[in-house]
Amino acid sequence: MNIVTLLGAPRTDGNTDRLLDWTERALKDWRHQVTRINLAELSVHGCKSCFACTESVDEPGCILPDDAPAVFDQMIAADAILFATPLYMWGYASQLKALLDRSICLVSGFGGPDHRSFIAGKPAALLVSCAGPIDGNADLIQASFPRFANYTRLDNRGVYVFPHCTDVNMLPNTHGNESRELARSLTE
Ligand SMILES: Cc1cc2nc3c(=O)[nH]c(=O)nc-3n(C[C@H](O)[C@H](O)[C@H](O)COP(=O)(O)O)c2cc1C
Repeated sequence: MNIVTLLGAPRTDGNTDRLLDWTERALKDWRHQVTRINLAELSVHGCKSCFACTESVDEPGCILPDDAPAVFDQMIAADAILFATPLYMWGYASQLKALLDRSICLVSGFGGPDHRSFIAGKPAALLVSCAGPIDGNADLIQASFPRFANYTRLDNRGVYVFPHCTDVNMLPNTHGNESRELARSLTE
């Protein structure tokens, strides 16, 4: 499979980067092709709510002149998509949130019989690293990603939360195995 991974952390060499790296290594071990996109290195602005994208049906049609349209092209070309973010204020880091907002241009007809998406049917999962526990902390992102997947018609393979991530060199031992489990769920 051709898998696109999207790192939404503002820093590399942090927990999210390390966990995503472990997941990518498992994918590569199983002979999948992995293309990492580091959103912090790109320019992806927030959605301007112009709805210009609703005027085109053959392409996403976002008219903002930044890097998001090229990222969408890579997502559309991929067989599967893996999103990764640190938990920020119980939600997505802004680097990834901006892209998710912008993905409104990938969808048309939501809620009706003509509901379509340029990324429909692709397996997708979300990796989340957080300093705290899962309960009462990562529960909101666990609830919201399935709704995003439903909106974009992705095939949601799960939200994988990695709790108790503080020092990158002290990541809990279990997280290595869970990274491989995430890789497996995305590709099976
Ligand atoms: C602005 C900000 C907001 C954060 N909000 C939360 C939070 O709501 N819950 C939590 O458990 N950790 C929170 N954290 C901690 C990070 O999610 C956690 O340390 C994460 O693993 C950092 O990822 P990184 O090393 O890839 O940057 C926050 C950190 C920052 C900088």
